[in-house]
Amino acid sequence: MKQLFIAGNWKSNKTVPEAEEWLKKFSVHQDNIVLCVPFTVLRVMKGKTFGLGAQDVSPFPEGAYTGEVSARQVHEFADWVIIGHSERRKHFGETDELLAKKAEQAKTVGLKIIYCVPDDQTVIPKNIDVVAYEPVWAIGTGKSDTPENANAVILNIKATSQVSVVLYGGSVTADNVASFVSQPAIDGILVGGASLDPEKFSALIANAR
Ligand code: PGA
Repeated sequence: MKQLFIAGNWKSNKTVPEAEEWLKKFSVHQDNIVLCVPFTVLRVMKGKTFGLGAQDVSPFPEGAYTGEVSARQVHEFADWVIIGHSERRKHFGETDELLAKKAEQAKTVGLKIIYCVPDDQTVIPKNIDVVAYEPVWAIGTGKSDTPENANAVILNIKATSQVSVVLYGGSVTADNVASFVSQPAIDGILVGGASLDPEKFSALIANAR
């Protein structure tokens, strides 16, 4: 049986007390689960028995870059970082060139990267650990891609990049997760909304098996 990779993305949600509450109710502990949280709650989420990630990183090293969080600072808390999420591309104008710089910074300090792409045509930088295929129209809409199409797109991504672990993301829930992970080319999932509630996220993980 394949080892599934399950990543959660809290996006811009939860304060420290809310993160602490979530932890009290989340009982699944495994290395193949990586939770990607806001910078401000990394500290309270560190040292648990699941992997921890940030959702962005500066394209610059440490220095005079007001407001940025450098890769070295992220790596104090997390082993993983999401780069290239479509919300960063859309709302913050992040380009493939900028994202390549972020990936380079992340690799300089040894952060592992979940790199998001909206299709199988998007440039993927070198040395990416995990790719997540997330069609823009499926994110947060309740309208997921079909498992068959996601599988076909992921096969193309694998054929044209050096990445061997590729996830599907976009409106994955406890109810539809099994249909995605049962596809042969899909190695796991990236979950946004359904990772915010610890009970729903636990149910989703259970159903993925
Ligand atoms: P969603 O988000 O699961 O809420 O659709 C997925 C993502 O943005 O990674």
